[in-house]
Amino acid sequence: MTLSTAKQTLISVQGVSKRFGRKRVLTGVDLNVEQGSVTTLLGANGAGKSTLMRIISGLAKPDRGDVVLGGVSLRKAGHELRRYIGLVTHAPLLYDNLSATENLAFYARLYDMEDAAPRIDAVLQAVDLWSRRKDPVRTFSRGMVQRLAIGRAILHDPPVLLLDEPDTGLDPASAELLADLIRTLGAANRAVLLTTHNLERARTWADSVSLLADGTIAFCEPAASFSEQSLRRLVIRVDRDAQDYATEDDMAPDLVGEQVAG
Ligand SMILES: Nc1ncnc2c1ncn2[C@@H]1O[C@H](COP(=O)(O)OP(=O)(O)OP(=O)(O)O)[C@@H](O)[C@H]1O
Ligand SMILES: [Mg+2]
Repeated sequence: MTLSTAKQTLISVQGVSKRFGRKRVLTGVDLNVEQGSVTTLLGANGAGKSTLMRIISGLAKPDRGDVVLGGVSLRKAGHELRRYIGLVTHAPLLYDNLSATENLAFYARLYDMEDAAPRIDAVLQAVDLWSRRKDPVRTFSRGMVQRLAIGRAILHDPPVLLLDEPDTGLDPASAELLADLIRTLGAANRAVLLTTHNLERARTWADSVSLLADGTIAFCEPAASFSEQSLRRLVIRVDRDAQDYATEDDMAPDLVGEQVAG
């Protein structure tokens, strides 16, 4: 018998479109993330990254197209989906009056995890909150809240991890900790899709880099070939109405130099 070593596509976004009223945000997005790989999704403010993340996680419905996770269409998937996905969004989804441990214990029950205590301890250590585990979340700094939100997302060891700006509010040491976590998670046969506004992280944290612009994936390339040169050439337009990325060559001189903040 020959066992296949082919990587499975765990996240498959197929022709997804979404509009809000008359505003077309996504206009046919195709994106695949394979088992054991990490993809970063770049895009200007308002490009639709969070909208796409919400659609992939089942929190919002696409107008057209489909998302297939682990071979199962979201249209057919039920409640079991929450165990399959770990999600970090702009909202931490934590209870202020509960301690870090209590928050994770709450989510462990939600995920029907049995004998969760050792896993909760391991996660608290992984996100460097062990010494603060008994303190209520309301006493946490923003970065600590973000780290606990990441801990919540990985708690049930989901095959698909969706991280929408997980580096927001993290100091350099915590960002390094997150980078290690993402590398470990991606290497362990999961699929990780994350957004960031930091181009250097987009390149070094991932196997491939995709750009969402004008409602579609404008490019998707291996992180290794997303070079220093393309980093330098990729400039964000200050004009929020345009809401897209452009290369230096396309741009008026007064817009050049507005590098993406890191
Ligand atoms: N529930 C909603 N109702 C109406 N418009 C929405 C809704 N959610 C998002 N939008 C609009 O869709 C567009 C894309 O928003 P989205 O939050 O997905 O962008 P983003 O790429 O995540 O931006 P950022 O980098 O600022 O996080 C924006 O114009 C936003 O105003
Ligand atoms: Mg967003």
